[in-house]
Amino acid sequence: MSNFQLRTSKIQNQKDSIFTTMSQLAHKYNATDLSQGFPNFETDDYLKELVTKAMKAGNNQYAPMAGVLKLRERIAEKVESLYGRKYNPETEITVTNGATQAIYSAITAFVQKDDEVIVFKPAYDSYEPTIKLNGGIPVLIQLKGAQFEIDWNELAKKITSRTRMIIINTPHNPSGTVLSKEAMLQLENLLINTDIILLSDEVYEHLVFDNNKHHSAAAFSGLAERAIICASFGKTFHNTGWKTGYCVAPSALMREIRKVHQFAVFCVNHPMQIAYAEYLKDPENYLQLGNFYQEKRDKFLHLMKSSKFSANPSAGTYFQVMDYSEIANEGDVEFSERLIKEYKLAAIPISVFNIDNKDNRQLRFCFAKTDETLEKAAEILINIK
Ligand SMILES: Cc1ncc(COP(=O)(O)O)c(C=O)c1O
Repeated sequence: MSNFQLRTSKIQNQKDSIFTTMSQLAHKYNATDLSQGFPNFETDDYLKELVTKAMKAGNNQYAPMAGVLKLRERIAEKVESLYGRKYNPETEITVTNGATQAIYSAITAFVQKDDEVIVFKPAYDSYEPTIKLNGGIPVLIQLKGAQFEIDWNELAKKITSRTRMIIINTPHNPSGTVLSKEAMLQLENLLINTDIILLSDEVYEHLVFDNNKHHSAAAFSGLAERAIICASFGKTFHNTGWKTGYCVAPSALMREIRKVHQFAVFCVNHPMQIAYAEYLKDPENYLQLGNFYQEKRDKFLHLMKSSKFSANPSAGTYFQVMDYSEIANEGDVEFSERLIKEYKLAAIPISVFNIDNKDNRQLRFCFAKTDETLEKAAEILINIK
């Protein structure tokens, strides 16, 4: 028996994430898994060959701290061509261990004890623990209605002299909504004449449907001047396990972020960066993604047509929120556990991302899956009455 006793926990009351819980249950019951947010199909063979080639060419030691320059140059070209803003690859772009580390580094670089950070709920689960680890206070705002909209009056009221940062996420996980140009302009208008930093999580930037556009913070001067924009190659190129992403920000902000990045990880996987730099030469590799995932969304919704689940078609990301209130009265956590145990189908209950776990009887399904998996899932779901 050990006599060692832990003095305290730095993140109090933090349970295992819902993804861990649901994945374990899904595994135990051998369930079809639409819970976790990653594809169950392969990344491009050509990209794998580029990684192998980069390894064989000897790029197996530390990469430069801020990332392989060629890759940063390609990122700068991509951002400029899509959103019309030039970021300097030398001073304004850093390659990170996935978007999660960009988010961690950005929050850690700027949030100090008792600083307030505004987070819209439901939210991706890494924001709040990172804010708290840094002594900050998450100030939560619930997105409203079926379209998960920002309540601008509430936002204006919650901005105080202690607000250090606002975090937005568009396209949005888990709701699948996309912030409109008007919403971005409204945010710009609210932030003008403040020194509030904007953390804009845009990992699903290429996954926007129905001829809509992704409105990056980079495209709005009053936002870009204060914005750290986070992106993920894992999400974009179907290789979340490679954990490579990046962030762009004006040099004064990036200087601070790199102080954290340098001592948290120093640098990122070298051969992958060389491969991505080559792969980004062809914009089709990311421009076709919207159509690719729109087909998946449409297929899933079509297959689900005769089910008792109801949905507003997802506008972006690879998630579809569905309402099950015609099927059951039980809470969404209970319902999703029963889905796994009785029907062998895993999804994510939305309440776990809401303020006070508000339960609207909604589940999140990930449609980044093979047609075969989507068909199998829908066959189960349409038979739940
Ligand atoms: C909104 C959001 N941000 C960030 C991430 C993390 O991205 P990465 O895998 O590149 O760390 C995810 C992954 O699920 C996400 O959904």
